[in-house]
Amino acid sequence: MKNNKKTVLSGIQPSGELCIANYIGAMKNWIKIQEDYNSIFLIVDLHSITVSQVPSELRKRCYSYLCQYLAVGIDPEKSIIAIQSHIPEHLELMWILNTITPLGDLSRMTQFKDKTKKNKENINSGLFTYPVLMASDILLYNADLVPVGADQKQHLELTRNLAEKFNNKFSPTFSIPDPLIPERGSRIMSLQDPNSKMSKSDANLNNLISLLDDPDLIVRKIKRAVTDSKSEINYTNSKGLANLIDIYSSFSEKSIDEIEQFYIGKQYSDFKSDLGQIIIESLKPIQKKYSQIIKDKTYLDTILKNNSSKASQIARKTISKVYRKVGLVSKARLIY
Ligand code: TYM
Repeated sequence: MKNNKKTVLSGIQPSGELCIANYIGAMKNWIKIQEDYNSIFLIVDLHSITVSQVPSELRKRCYSYLCQYLAVGIDPEKSIIAIQSHIPEHLELMWILNTITPLGDLSRMTQFKDKTKKNKENINSGLFTYPVLMASDILLYNADLVPVGADQKQHLELTRNLAEKFNNKFSPTFSIPDPLIPERGSRIMSLQDPNSKMSKSDANLNNLISLLDDPDLIVRKIKRAVTDSKSEINYTNSKGLANLIDIYSSFSEKSIDEIEQFYIGKQYSDFKSDLGQIIIESLKPIQKKYSQIIKDKTYLDTILKNNSSKASQIARKTISKVYRKVGLVSKARLIY
């Protein structure tokens, strides 16, 4: 990537069905941005195994994610789409960053606390060091910008701290990445429990809308979404309604004001029925493209092969530089 463009990087864990929260919080920004930045979008499989996965399903899901990245509009000629585990340098950089990461910083991570509560039977050290792997994903490619939802802000702060710490201790090496968090829709909430965030790994599928849900299911899930017993469509009525208005706003590109104005004198049922249709129409082209490519393993493998080789080139350079700066003997000098 030899040009003057800045670099954008993001990733998603293949830990469930990609859902509209991932789309609204992160992927929408990926698509907008890929024209103007050198872009790298990862399927972060190594992160996902910090929670138990069924191996055969995980493998299948990685292909499904690849197809969904393509279907939402990521162009594999313009952006690098890669599977994290295909580029072992992520793990190499993680080790180096581990050696400058204070334990106290990791124990303050709210996602670590949440995940240990949810996975009492498998509190592994991968959950604890997870943010260091995320920092290595970002710093390996010298990303300037990281489009994510609000839940990743704390991880980004740690990444920035680690980059600064490394730069100060050795010499300037890493760019300091900025988060790109959407103004609206950075925290989409569960449909049945608007006090918790919508999560693709939620066992209750009524809490989320998957990018691949069929129209009938979308209508049913929106109909059942928890709101309140008021009558006017007003953003301040309840968390549940505000969440649905956020989703509406994000898919329709209409402001909250416009939406409230439009529904004056109308019922919650009108609003919910329109919202269902807006989501269905927005997901239709994504689902169509997905079904066209999901069976074409040769095409998908070619994308993975070409893209991970592009990613590896960048990653190798960073790791060589980092190893040299920390004082490791270069293996390259032994080859003559
Ligand atoms: P993950 O896989 O949980 O989520 C993927 C992306 O979706 C966003 N997101 C949401 N946005 C709005 N509302 C929600 N309810 C919601 N739930 C999820 C997330 O903020 C994220 O942008 N640690 C990351 C994956 C990761 C990563 C990276 C991201 C690993 N390495 C490097 C960026 C750069 C994660 O668990 O995301």
